[in-house]
Amino acid sequence: MMDDKQKKQKTTKDIRNAAAGSQQKTKARKGNNGVLLKKYESVMLDMFSTKSSSISSKYEICQEALYNLTPRYSKLPPFINDTDKHKLIDNAKLYWTSRGLTSSSNTSDDKSPFPFDKETSLPQCGCIRETSNNTRDVGDVKDTKRAWRKEMQLANLIQCVLTLIPDDILLNEKTNKKTFRIIDFAGGTGHLAVPLALLLPQVEVVCVDLKKYSLDLLHKRVDGVSLTSKKDDSVDSIQVSTALPNLSTYYGSIQTYPHEFDIGVSLHACGEASDLVLRKCLNQKASFVVCSCCCGKLQSEAKNPYVFQSTGGNEKEISYPQSKKMIASLEKGAESNNSHGNPANKKQQEIAFDEIAKASDYSEIGDIRKPKNACRRAAKALVEWDRLLYSKECIECSVSHETPVNVILSRMVPWECSVKNDILIGWFEDLCNPYRTQSQNNTIFGYDTSCDNDFKVALNHLFGNNTVSPGSTINTQNDWTTQEEKEVTSEIEQFLVKSSVSQEYRFSKGMGARKRKLIHSVAEKLSLKHWSEGKGSEKVVVIARQRTPSQVDININNKT
Ligand SMILES: C[S@@+](CC[C@H](N)C(=O)[O-])C[C@H]1O[C@@H](n2cnc3c(N)ncnc32)[C@H](O)[C@@H]1O
Repeated sequence: MMDDKQKKQKTTKDIRNAAAGSQQKTKARKGNNGVLLKKYESVMLDMFSTKSSSISSKYEICQEALYNLTPRYSKLPPFINDTDKHKLIDNAKLYWTSRGLTSSSNTSDDKSPFPFDKETSLPQCGCIRETSNNTRDVGDVKDTKRAWRKEMQLANLIQCVLTLIPDDILLNEKTNKKTFRIIDFAGGTGHLAVPLALLLPQVEVVCVDLKKYSLDLLHKRVDGVSLTSKKDDSVDSIQVSTALPNLSTYYGSIQTYPHEFDIGVSLHACGEASDLVLRKCLNQKASFVVCSCCCGKLQSEAKNPYVFQSTGGNEKEISYPQSKKMIASLEKGAESNNSHGNPANKKQQEIAFDEIAKASDYSEIGDIRKPKNACRRAAKALVEWDRLLYSKECIECSVSHETPVNVILSRMVPWECSVKNDILIGWFEDLCNPYRTQSQNNTIFGYDTSCDNDFKVALNHLFGNNTVSPGSTINTQNDWTTQEEKEVTSEIEQFLVKSSVSQEYRFSKGMGARKRKLIHSVAEKLSLKHWSEGKGSEKVVVIARQRTPSQVDININNKT
């Protein structure tokens, strides 16, 4: 039997051990992350330092590496035209004023009343900044810089959401349509849901979160009353706001939200939660705008459930990487790195993804010309591309081909407003295409596919000899004859002999997709830059020598 003193000693010892254990765990995690990042960094440096003798410093190598390892970002969808924008805002103002919601028109410029547009003076509950009159203090962002960043993030996401709404609903032209529903998944205190509900009274907005406390704050902010006092503790319940009847909250997880919806949006849903949102939207064939959060815990296996479930609710459901293309690239990479000739195993491929996910996990990023930061940025883009490809593949496999999903990866503007600034935008129907424009009563649907190739090139650089490189994929399919390949090679070689370093070569218009693929393939083999320009029958392939580091932009945002 232990006496009291022994018991006490044991308890103290236990606590010390537990504390030491958890410190070790934290240390191990950090240390491990560092090692992985170093490894990734060295791949980057090796790859480019051996490539060109003109590249001398690490600094220059990183510019080159960052450029080549980061798939291109699509441009943010254009904003609706000025006339429609004013119509939208006027409609909203009229609607809310007639229902007695006070406007914050006398708010000064530095306390922007609404993240979407400084000119508007919508009710103050759409504002995220702390206000001087102290009438509200919940959900406010007190730090001015943080408030600016948050407002910019919201403005970007709201812009994307608006462009996904069909025109007749956006401008409230049809009143008897079924309710159009937007869900702000993992919406927290409603920073995004509230301005959306204010701006779009004709639309139903639901803020979903599994933290009751956050939803409480939302209700307090909008209605001035706490949700806790009004509802019982049953999970998964829906509560409608009294001040904004088109806004409701759903207390529960993303996975369990039970109703249909038209657009799913999420801003910084923790880790795997962003993928849960994507899957929910894909199942519903709903458009989506997903700006993900931390990625470090996205692993093939949940090794540390405590760390993984830091959000308090997510259970491991998804294994990474998600897309077949990424899996294939990593497998091939593992094969070619395996000097003993053993077949690549799933473990190696999983480790490779875990490295990318860990490298992509950062809360702040400094100078992206430094190796570590450059690696992190490129790694984040690859994680997002895995999501993008999965979305496309998922639809191809499970749903009819008639309505494939269109997905693009874009970035917030200005990109400094968040280190987690990648935005995936997806839609199924043409009438939701965010790049649609009107020209002489015709709707033109644009879609930038030029970045697809970048992903393959980036993976090829990182993992080497794999079949996803544009050339090898096509060659294994024997899609053209050796003679055709020779002809294109000779045309390119003639250009290389005659031209200066900075010149580009445009192939003629009117070539079919197969011929253009052949040119891309040959250019890739010759380590040249290659891309497509123009649309439809105007489409041409352009090639150029790989740029020297001095020509490479420091700001990868210029790639958008
Ligand atoms: C970083 S906060 C972002 C909040 C809000 N979107 C914003 O930008 O202000 C992440 C939120 O995700 C929520 N969350 C995480 N996993 C979730 C899940 N499976 N279902 C619903 N909410 C979840 C958390 O409760 C938390 O409120």
